[in-house]
Amino acid sequence: MIIAANLKTNLTRKQTAEYVNKLEAFLNAHNSHQEVLVFPATSSLNSHAGKVIIGAQNAYPAKNGAFTGEIGVDHLDEFGIKSILIGHSERRHVLGETQESIAKKFNFYKELGFKIVYCVGEPLEVRKSGEKNMMEYLDAQYEGIDTSYESLIIAYEPVWAIGTGLTPTLEEIESLHLKLKEKSSAPLLYGGSVKLSNAQEVLALNGVDGVLVGGASLIVEDFSQMIIYAQDLEK
Ligand code: PGA
Repeated sequence: MIIAANLKTNLTRKQTAEYVNKLEAFLNAHNSHQEVLVFPATSSLNSHAGKVIIGAQNAYPAKNGAFTGEIGVDHLDEFGIKSILIGHSERRHVLGETQESIAKKFNFYKELGFKIVYCVGEPLEVRKSGEKNMMEYLDAQYEGIDTSYESLIIAYEPVWAIGTGLTPTLEEIESLHLKLKEKSSAPLLYGGSVKLSNAQEVLALNGVDGVLVGGASLIVEDFSQMIIYAQDLEK
């Protein structure tokens, strides 16, 4: 399964190095074959050799150039980074990225062969407005995205579940995942308030190939335990 940590705007460079080293030691000690991805803050990116795959939370679709505040492929290449998170709800809703700019970024990094964790998810008012509206909203987040890209991982993260402690019911997660699986056969992660107390049951659901974890991933011991849960399920 795929277990991913989105560290967001947390952990300094030094703290991230300690985190990744602890996680790497854990994976080796448990002979883990799970796919483990960590997305550190941009200034904490670094080279890493081992089982843990380091990815960027964001990068501009350019090699380099005049894009103040952004980083480009040169900066990822410096650390051998070949994975990127695209379309995260905070980039869409807090930073204002449009589907058009997201699709452009997707295609740019796809051409470079990056592993892309592509996020989709609906705000609460959309969910409340009924299933048809909700599926249309999610459909629009697939616009311009090559759903058959071989290095694609999709993460379904309801916006209202991110960082709130709220989650859809297990039945809701499973039924939505099975619907999203009809759009793409890429591995499909669930994200949004995944924590130690619910990770095991979420991972066990049909149509769930892993989890993308924010807040609860900051404690390396908790995140490591989720990897054990995944390993025990041996999906
Ligand atoms: P959360 O964040 O686990 O803190 O809800 C998940 C995410 O934003 O990827």
